[in-house]
Amino acid sequence: MKVAIVGAGYVGLVTSALLASLQHVVTCIEYNPKRLRALLAGKVPFHEPGLDELVADGIYDGNLHFSGVMDPVQDADVVYLAVGTPTAPDGSTDLTFVEQAAQSLARHLRGGTTVVVKSTVPVGTGDMVEAILDAHARSSARYDVVSNPEFLREGTAIQDALNPDRIVIGSKTRRGAMTVMQLLMQIDSEVVVTDRRSAELIKYAANSFLATRISFANTMAQLCDEMGADVEAVMRGAGLDRRVGTAFFRAGLGYGGSCFPKDVTSLIHEGKRAGVSMEILEAVVSVNDELPRIYIDRLKASLGDLRGQTVAVLGLAFKADTDDVRESRGILLVRELLREGAVVRCYDPEAMEQAHLELTNCQVFYGGSAMATCQAADAVVVATDWPEFRKLDYESVHNHMRGNLLLDGRNYLDRDAITAAGLLYFGLGRNILRGPNLVSEKMVA
Ligand code: UDX
Repeated sequence: MKVAIVGAGYVGLVTSALLASLQHVVTCIEYNPKRLRALLAGKVPFHEPGLDELVADGIYDGNLHFSGVMDPVQDADVVYLAVGTPTAPDGSTDLTFVEQAAQSLARHLRGGTTVVVKSTVPVGTGDMVEAILDAHARSSARYDVVSNPEFLREGTAIQDALNPDRIVIGSKTRRGAMTVMQLLMQIDSEVVVTDRRSAELIKYAANSFLATRISFANTMAQLCDEMGADVEAVMRGAGLDRRVGTAFFRAGLGYGGSCFPKDVTSLIHEGKRAGVSMEILEAVVSVNDELPRIYIDRLKASLGDLRGQTVAVLGLAFKADTDDVRESRGILLVRELLREGAVVRCYDPEAMEQAHLELTNCQVFYGGSAMATCQAADAVVVATDWPEFRKLDYESVHNHMRGNLLLDGRNYLDRDAITAAGLLYFGLGRNILRGPNLVSEKMVA
């Protein structure tokens, strides 16, 4: 099939490369001239493992093209809208880019096109897109508007897109649903076909529940610290109940990124507008918002007033395997530490450039490596779960530091190795002297 994709961000570019790999002929439309220039030169403008190769293959096979104008939609069987939907100041979702894309699309639309909304959008946005097309498209144009939300995670986007847990299709017409199913038929996955509004709400339900799990784990971790329990044992022991599951139960600095914070805030806003109490999600947000303060307080408990104290922050991306710093807890921690008057040194394996942009006018030292960043630090905070931070030589870290406090903001470091190196370890809910480590042992008869 011929596909046009409006927007070359994470979702748009991954979807373009994926569909090209399925031998569809895809044109990805990007208005941002800098980003378009990079794409036309075959360069992916952000870090996403495997995407460079997938894009290069699509270009080489002649299945993947880039454009700065809407014209390619004229001969497309399917047009995806994958434009940004940022959070507005009042917590609602800003649909300006969706509206603009729909209006521009309407002027180019010919008969028989399936318009697919891929962006994460509030319930009812598909109806809005359809109304814009009805108002502005040529009378001869025939089209269906379908919702096909994306569930990829940054850092694992390719595998998530190739092996989704499910494909969700929301359509008013059988024709619209069948077209998207045909487009994606090579992907082996459960398919949920429903109405458009339900498809739109499924995305928010999934992300909000995942965020809820994380805030629940963080609440349990704080209980563990007050009650002398071990959060890893507690969350594993509870999670082995098949009805609970163990995924997204890791406590620490909390969730960040371009999705969870935005999607939960949007659902709270839309829910309240619909007259539904959204207390459960408001509590999820408030637990998440409080977490960085716990780490600042832990630093103060050991170092006293942070003014003039040197703190090394390892990890600025919102998670490992990305250079995305949107709503990153590492960045947030840097800002909090600067507000406390600390001297901040920071490092990230991939996100240094993005961090510089995010922290303009902030007086921070950017280290060339994790070890160099720890030099003369009174404390070290690991804020992103990069594998390299788990493999550090902690003896050497301790020798580089001035102090001996290491805070594990992602509860993934080897606590025993860190304490064996003479460092004082802190991890949320991981602070008791544990018995034998039987948490992961399988008891055999
Ligand atoms: C998320 C959803 O997982 C994905 O399905 C959706 O399409 C987009 O939003 P993403 O934001 O890319 O994906 O990353 P994810 O791996 O979900 O992590 C989100 C945040 O939660 C990160 O800051 C991560 O550090 C944090 N997290 C994740 C935890 O704090 N604890 C966990 O157990 C898991």
